[in-house]
Amino acid sequence: MNIEQLTKVFKQNFTGDYAVFSAPGRINIIGEHTDYNNGFVLPGAINKTIDLVIHINKDSNIINAVANDLNEKESFTKDTTETKYHWTKYILGVVGELNKLGCNIPGFDCVFGGDVPIGSGMSSSAALESVVGLALNELLDLNLSRFQLAKVGQMSEHNYVGVRCGIMDQFASLFGDEGKLVKLDCRSLEYEMIPFNPIGYSIVLLDTKVSHSLASSEYNKRRASCEEGVSIIATKYKEVKSLRDVTIDMLEEFIDDMSIETYKRCLYVVGEIDRLQKACEALKENDLITVGKLMFETHDGLQVLYEVSCDELDFLVQIAKGFDGAIGSRVMGGGFGGCTISLVETNKEHDFIEQSSKRFKEKFGHVPVVHEVKIASGARRIM
Ligand code: GLA
Repeated sequence: MNIEQLTKVFKQNFTGDYAVFSAPGRINIIGEHTDYNNGFVLPGAINKTIDLVIHINKDSNIINAVANDLNEKESFTKDTTETKYHWTKYILGVVGELNKLGCNIPGFDCVFGGDVPIGSGMSSSAALESVVGLALNELLDLNLSRFQLAKVGQMSEHNYVGVRCGIMDQFASLFGDEGKLVKLDCRSLEYEMIPFNPIGYSIVLLDTKVSHSLASSEYNKRRASCEEGVSIIATKYKEVKSLRDVTIDMLEEFIDDMSIETYKRCLYVVGEIDRLQKACEALKENDLITVGKLMFETHDGLQVLYEVSCDELDFLVQIAKGFDGAIGSRVMGGGFGGCTISLVETNKEHDFIEQSSKRFKEKFGHVPVVHEVKIASGARRIM
């Protein structure tokens, strides 16, 4: 956290008193692309955050925002349609969605920055949405629940950024807790906090530094394929509202009625919803070996059936598969680049990182960036 730096920049740009808020990025152990299919997810908030220094200007409607890490500044109002910078859309989206809920958001000055890497699959965008939502909620006494704030963040992605994401990232950022994973049922929004203390094992994130320019449009296409599969199956099974309600047998019954692509997407999701339940059972028994095996299976599904991986990610997972001491590994988040998440015996972590980095550099010309994360608490006010 670099609050001192952010407050310094705030004072250089603006006047008046200020409050400080912080919201984390997330990891996800298993349950990828299941949230928008009404399945389960198993994320945890991490000790990497986006922090916000903010002052409300009740007699103005102008929002002045500084992205400290990018050295960019933009002024806009809630009615702005074209923004100069991409990050502005996230703030504008939150303000717009809050307005839709009947909250009248005045102008404000803010500076934000942090250490959630951008484009690495750790949800820096959800962290930004969550921190802005939480700050406005508290400072303007909007009395919205954290559920509502998560929804506001998700809808800003849909309506202002153009990504039809699920609710996992915003939920994890707002509801996360130290040492605990959030098992979220994305249909009912009921959740359970699951203690995660993998004694003897470490979570290793290896960032390929690849970011695919088509990630958003491909993401939306995946969602559309899932919806198409559901609509085909629902012609016979009226009770089917999402892939959560679909069994493998049902899917097989309609194999000739859908494109092979739609079939593959649905097959992955139905399998992943099941894998998550198995992983949660295994976690209760402290059986990390089974969790790891399921992570490898998830990667295979994301690579072959859902097709959201890339050569760099596949290469890292392949190394993990051959490394004695790496018990699970897979692409994390939306895909098309970003990080792998691996479960590695702590005493072999160093060797794993060294070997992966060396072989990755030989093949791709650069080393993957290693991110050390701990499962930490969710969004909060700091000052
Ligand atoms: C992105 C989205 C989430 C989720 C993941 C994939 O992070 O924002 O809603 O769908 O991809 O699991």
